[in-house]
Amino acid sequence: MNGRVLHVVGTRPNFVKAAPVVAALGVAGCDQALVHTGQHYDARMSDVFFRQLGLPRPDADLGVGSGGHARQTADLLVALEAELTARDPALVMVYGDVNSTLAAALAAAKLGVPVAHVEAGLRSFDMAMPEEVNRRLVDQLAVLLFATSPEAVGHLAREGADPARVHFVGNPMIDTLLTHLDLFDPAAARTAYGLPERYGVVTLHRPANVDDPEAARAAARALTEAARHLDLAVPLHPRGRDALRAAGLDGAFGVHLLEPLGYVEFMSLVRGAAAVITDSGGVQEETTVLGVPCLTLRTTTERPITVSHGTNRLVTHDELVPALRKALDGGPGAPTEGPPLWDGKAGIRTARVVTRWLEHHD
Ligand code: UD1
Ligand code: UDP
Repeated sequence: MNGRVLHVVGTRPNFVKAAPVVAALGVAGCDQALVHTGQHYDARMSDVFFRQLGLPRPDADLGVGSGGHARQTADLLVALEAELTARDPALVMVYGDVNSTLAAALAAAKLGVPVAHVEAGLRSFDMAMPEEVNRRLVDQLAVLLFATSPEAVGHLAREGADPARVHFVGNPMIDTLLTHLDLFDPAAARTAYGLPERYGVVTLHRPANVDDPEAARAAARALTEAARHLDLAVPLHPRGRDALRAAGLDGAFGVHLLEPLGYVEFMSLVRGAAAVITDSGGVQEETTVLGVPCLTLRTTTERPITVSHGTNRLVTHDELVPALRKALDGGPGAPTEGPPLWDGKAGIRTARVVTRWLEHHD
């Protein structure tokens, strides 16, 4: 079994997005294969997600690992071309906007293998973000474009995508959240990590916040000040770990530095948080659905629906503490109605489109 549909995943957010699509295609009886590029490889960034989300063991692990953009993308391209050539799939499915996503789409397109992009059409309009470069290029290459929001459909239309290729299916990351909701136990997680009853959760890993030492210092200062108002659980992504520590973020005065958390542990903490401070894409969406106030330390978001339909607000380092105090005073501010089709059925809708497509492309 080569896998007529070959999924390529490589990073933490990919695993969360792919799980419901792989599951739904499995139920539909589709012959699939799962290739892990190895872009993320620490057990806490990879294995734990396979275990907790019920993803099948990868059929191949390419072990590509870390490197600068050119080196990593080049290594991914070479490894993926060999893998795709050997497996000869009918369709390659890619997720999100990471380097593994771009490399898989490009390797497949050059071999003449059709590509499907899950989470197509998101745009931050900030080409300084590596993810914006990746998602724009992948959308040019894909024959099936699965959108999570009406804005994404609009962006694809404006860029000239054939409407027959665009499918508004909802958000698979939210499928995963809703599937596991009963496992998210804030009280148990709070106790496990030694947090008081009222606490916040912080994740930071964008290059704009952690790679430049001055930006990292500004982030560390803002978070240390924020911790005077709310104890903060900070699971450190490996990218920001050393930089934020060097910039002065330490485990004192209400800052609780943690290793990257497993999905269930992380979402348990988020579910019970009084507020979340982040620069993550996925976390903006998850807090929207859970009704937890989210302060995003960025100047743009490719997910504006989390602001218009959710609890998200973009803030600068200087705005963080006043915005946090306001969020803590104002209660959760849960939206009355979440974004359309963030209902736990995106994987099923995606699988339906894929199986129909396969019937016509033998
Ligand atoms: C990548 C994605 C980013 C996504 C993030 C999700 C790109 C360009 N960026 O960023 O869009 O939001 O994943 O988490 O694809 N490292 C480890 N262990 C690991 C993985 C990485 O220590 O298991 C360290 C290495 O020092 C590595 C650094 O983290 O150089 C960055 O990893 P990389 O995969 O290049 O980018 P991320 O910052 O993780
Ligand atoms: N996540 C997790 N443990 C953590 C941090 C994040 O399980 O310590 C999950 C969470 O569901 C999040 C997803 O991993 O939405 C992707 O996170 P990340 O911020 O790394 O990627 P992004 O969405 O910014 O690309």
